[in-house]
Amino acid sequence: MNAQQARALLLAQHDRIREQLDICIRLSHALHAGEAVTPELDAALAELRDEVAVHNRDETAIVAELLHGPAAWGSLMVDRMLEEHVAEHAAFWALLCGSQAEVAERITELADELDAHMAAEERTFLSPLTLRDDVIRTRTRDLR
Ligand SMILES: [Fe+2]
Ligand SMILES: [Fe+2]
Repeated sequence: MNAQQARALLLAQHDRIREQLDICIRLSHALHAGEAVTPELDAALAELRDEVAVHNRDETAIVAELLHGPAAWGSLMVDRMLEEHVAEHAAFWALLCGSQAEVAERITELADELDAHMAAEERTFLSPLTLRDDVIRTRTRDLR
């Protein structure tokens, strides 16, 4: 997979997560208003968890592979960044796991935080200026 394909895949996953978050928010509000949407909300939350799990796995693997070139520069910095990134994913994951009532209660806040996380990625390592094969090659060239 080249940088362009990786970028397209991860961005499409972001879009799907955002759409799924919107569905979960809508159903959580309906639940709060007393509507009988328990099965639909359960299914929507399960789908959201699946999408987030797949995305977190792909993103961690792809970013690590792209940033750790044959003679990676700043390998320690990359490791540090990946570590922080994985920790953030784990924090989101913990917020997504819980009873339906708990997750429904915090879904808006969770959606805002997830959106901010994805928007920050889109501005940085998923930016078309960063996630390009030539840029990655230049940065991972052995400069020692
Ligand atoms: Fe991420
Ligand atoms: Fe992401």
